[in-house]
Amino acid sequence: MQPFALRNGVLHAEGVSLETIAEAVGTPVYVYSRTYFENRYQTILNAMAKLNVVICYAVKANSNLGVLRCFANLGAGFDIVSGGELQRVISIGAAPARVVFSGVGKSVTEIDLALKLGIGCFNVESAAELDRIAARAELLSKVAPISIRINPDVDANTHPYISTGLKENKFGVPATHAIDLYRQAAASESLSVRGIDCHIGSQLDTVAPLAEACAILLEIVDQLESLHIHIEHIDMGGGLGVSYRDEEEFDLETYGRHLAALIGERDIKLLLEPGRFLVANGGVLLTRVEYLKPQATPEHKNFAVVDAAMNDLLRPALYQAWHDVVPVKAQADAADEQCWDIVGPVCESGDFLAHERHLALSAGDLLAVLSAGAYGMVQSSNYNTRGRPAEVLVDGSNFQVVRRRETTMDQLRLELNEG
Ligand code: LLP
Repeated sequence: MQPFALRNGVLHAEGVSLETIAEAVGTPVYVYSRTYFENRYQTILNAMAKLNVVICYAVKANSNLGVLRCFANLGAGFDIVSGGELQRVISIGAAPARVVFSGVGKSVTEIDLALKLGIGCFNVESAAELDRIAARAELLSKVAPISIRINPDVDANTHPYISTGLKENKFGVPATHAIDLYRQAAASESLSVRGIDCHIGSQLDTVAPLAEACAILLEIVDQLESLHIHIEHIDMGGGLGVSYRDEEEFDLETYGRHLAALIGERDIKLLLEPGRFLVANGGVLLTRVEYLKPQATPEHKNFAVVDAAMNDLLRPALYQAWHDVVPVKAQADAADEQCWDIVGPVCESGDFLAHERHLALSAGDLLAVLSAGAYGMVQSSNYNTRGRPAEVLVDGSNFQVVRRRETTMDQLRLELNEG
């Protein structure tokens, strides 16, 4: 499904013109397609049809309540990494039992909240965390459901910042330590062993490292079974890559086939924690050209200064990520095209959305930065005291502002402002 397409020469999100949204809500604004989210969710379910699968949407990818509600309505569980994300999920009425809690630094406050609410599983990242969870559960007279996150030491072949399954990464425990931790957990009255998990990295383009990791986890499952420690679920994390430019989409069908073959006859549920795959290409960041700065001499560059910046979409600056930038109004004449750097108003040369794009631009033009549905708004900041953008969710020919634009007063409210 192509959620953003030209109709009568104007880019639309499903049935709604992006010009209409820009006029109604202003720019910059994130625009998401509900139908796209639903289709992607179904695509994963289809590929995993042979398996007893639960999709736990990785809230960190896009945590807007409107987006979370879409996935809750589809029956998704949620993968969270903070007390804040837990509160978001609870606030939309999702069942705590469908929540898994990942992350290397769970605080006492976060653990207590999760225990009191009765989440589905703690994905434990270290021996020290296991001790802390057991102690808090005992104190609160609860039994904590746990899974141990294994660091399988496989190379996911992705950007170093988002690779998480190598031994030099901070995540999980080595496979060789796992059995001891499970024995300890099984012996504790405050812990209940439920699963085993991993997440080896994000934006993965091949199935092989995931299959390798799955085999390593299943070997541990079998060893535990022989020790009479039963594992109810295997959680393979997220990581399914998407196409930002002309990359091949992650081959979900093959992944499903590999997982089914590896799991075989074992009585085990499969959990997945996809984020990017579900939302990245279902969102755009809509921005307007403020000024054009064509080159002063042949050695200079052409800059198009737009009203969105690195504080709105950090991915290009942080990971040198490539996002396509397209005009909202189709350009009649490619002859007017020039090579532009699309930059924001923030006072840093690292503030760019795209380098060297061939576009025919005029001041006032609307541009759509594509593939911005994942790790866009969630990584935004108030740098330069800029308000975060609004967010809009489109459904067919309707749209709804699911987060209003942040005002400067929203920011000042939190600060002490007296003599
Ligand atoms: N589960 C765990 C434990 C994770 O750490 C992550 C992502 C996911 C699931 C979801 O991964 P996905 O399916 O979205 O690949 N900010 C970066 C991506 C950071 C990913 C961190 N962990 C970016 O903009 O590319």
